[in-house]
Amino acid sequence: MLAGLLHLHSALRYVILILVLISIFQAFTAGNKPYTAGNKKINLFTLISAHIQLLLGLVLYFTSDWVNFSQMSNPVYRYWNVEHISMMVLAIVLITIGYSKAKKAIDDKAKHRAIYTFYTIAVVIIFLGILTMKGRNLWWN
Ligand code: HEM
Repeated sequence: MLAGLLHLHSALRYVILILVLISIFQAFTAGNKPYTAGNKKINLFTLISAHIQLLLGLVLYFTSDWVNFSQMSNPVYRYWNVEHISMMVLAIVLITIGYSKAKKAIDDKAKHRAIYTFYTIAVVIIFLGILTMKGRNLWWN
């Protein structure tokens, strides 16, 4: 069951990355074009996938052997105790803010700008979180 959740969490990263990149691309290339229902739908799917990832992550956080606060001096455990959750929660918060700013903005240009600004910062943080990932299958294990 937990192994299944971990696989799901692991695979969902690709879904989020693809969706967030599509959201950014369409917002960035929109220029003066309207914020269409299609744009909104992709941005919403990005938001939903990020929130599902948060829920899966929370379950893993309270069950994983890699989250262990008696091992804070070990960089592998510290990554899972603190760094992964902080970076990923921050990225998900930014996606949420970007989506709601786009929703509230009056003109379409501001809607697109809210998406590409917040989603771009979020995807950079997610990439950093993945690139600095520590754990099994890495040379120090
Ligand atoms: C966009 C957000 C996130 C992405 C892209 C992401 C990505 C990943 C990836 C790729 C793994 C490694 C999976 C594997 O080893 O097969 C992982 C593991 C993990 N994630 Fe996330 N994650 C995200 C958010 C979160 C959040 C918000 C939390 C906590 C609330 C969390 C908690 C964990 C934990 C505890 C593990 C380690 C589980 C284990 O190896 O036992 N993740 N995550």
